[in-house]
Amino acid sequence: MPMHFVFVTDSHHYPDAPEDFSAPKILTQSRRVLDAMPVAINALNPDFIVHGGDLLCGGSSFKMPWETYIRAVGEVASACSLFQAPTYYVPGNHDSDAQQASFDLFAQHIQIPPMLDVVDVGPRWRLAVANVYHDCSPISEAAGVWTEALDQALRNAARTAEADGRALILALHPWVVPHASQQDNPEPHGVIFEAARIQETIKTHPAIMMILTGHYHRNRISLFHDCLILDTACLIGYPMGFRDIWIEDNGTFRTRFHALDLPDVIEASYARSTPEENEGWAGRSEDRDAEMRLPRWRE
Ligand SMILES: [Fe+2]
Repeated sequence: MPMHFVFVTDSHHYPDAPEDFSAPKILTQSRRVLDAMPVAINALNPDFIVHGGDLLCGGSSFKMPWETYIRAVGEVASACSLFQAPTYYVPGNHDSDAQQASFDLFAQHIQIPPMLDVVDVGPRWRLAVANVYHDCSPISEAAGVWTEALDQALRNAARTAEADGRALILALHPWVVPHASQQDNPEPHGVIFEAARIQETIKTHPAIMMILTGHYHRNRISLFHDCLILDTACLIGYPMGFRDIWIEDNGTFRTRFHALDLPDVIEASYARSTPEENEGWAGRSEDRDAEMRLPRWRE
């Protein structure tokens, strides 16, 4: 039986948003997107679901009033309660409130890792979910920090997984490898701070076979030292979808990008950007759909 799961990210709920905010987001339609999320995902009947963070529009940028934040957390929690498979969450920078940069209220409703939580998700697979804001403010460090403590925890998880004959999937909110357009930028947008630290751990720990990220609102499928990196676009704007992922017992991996069944909302989001910008969010077809034998897979 192949393992089958969904990765969804950046659903950005803002009840009665006063505007759409920056493209491709279309926050005035966030209620419809939030309602469509569990329906579309449940229809695929996955074994489990991973949400990559930014379920809300707290933190910086949106100036969400505290009363609206309380309402948003409640509405997100109730939408997520409709998921019909075990769901694992990583916090995003917009999941804290805007006033105190605190995740406390969010964490009362949505289970997030204090730092790094590890769970068995299949007979041969283990999922590690990381909180990259465990030691920094999501407002001043929007892309989070890969701390020494997080790195230590990940290296331990990778060593234990290897000893137990299991492979590790890591989910975290920001990117870990810069976009091609930002290779020479010393602080590339969307990429975690102290990225060199996690990159070294990925390089040297072959049990880490796959990394799932959001935050940057772009689809990309790439390899970093043979580790498969799946960066996924946002749900709240074009291309307005999520990844369906299968892994067979022989290490064959397959992913398909699914857009929500909201054609008018997708069209309205698309109209906010140029065709080139929209292609940037959606990625090339090989950034959305792919099939391969996982390069790090060993029998
Ligand atoms: Fe984010």
